[in-house]
Amino acid sequence: MHQDIKKILVTQEAIEQKCIELGAIISHDYQDKDLVVIGLLKGCIPFISDLVKHISIPLRLDYMSVSSYHGGTASTGNVRVNKDLDASVTGCDVLIAEDIVDTGKTLKKVMEMLSVKGANSIKVVTLLDKPEGRVVDLIPDYTGFIIPKEFVVGYGLDYDEYYRNLPYVGVLKEEVYTK
Ligand code: PRP
Repeated sequence: MHQDIKKILVTQEAIEQKCIELGAIISHDYQDKDLVVIGLLKGCIPFISDLVKHISIPLRLDYMSVSSYHGGTASTGNVRVNKDLDASVTGCDVLIAEDIVDTGKTLKKVMEMLSVKGANSIKVVTLLDKPEGRVVDLIPDYTGFIIPKEFVVGYGLDYDEYYRNLPYVGVLKEEVYTK
């Protein structure tokens, strides 16, 4: 275990197993649909990479990069699009892949944007859900693990851009982000 990690919350093995399960469910639910899996950069990368290997139906992959505007200490809920989708999603069945849903603000805005683009359906798959952090009305359609309100990193999740490469999700030691 990395020296900055207090405890492992979700092991590499548990994530691998969950990707197999979610992939099977999504393959079933989207058969005969025009599936486009959209990753929100950068945190989504390990999860979307492992998940789509277990989706057995045809799909296309696309990515968006968005960042939240912060007014003072609280997020305003506005998001800026740094990189938009490469292809049209009009009439497509969109599945957004996220590493974590916390306040839900990012996802809510992105879902509104995709709706304006004319997607036929818009659903969300997230590896982690932190429901205690939620400030908007949003329930992911597919969830890997529900986690408590702790500072987690790894498997795509960062602190100051580090730790994304850890193969598990762990709680960061307080001393790392309070020093
Ligand atoms: C993280 C995460 C989600 C969002 C969740 O992204 O990947 O997109 O925050 O938070 P919310 O539910 O409170 O909106 P971040 O903006 O840190 O960018 P990153 O993926 O590049 O780390």
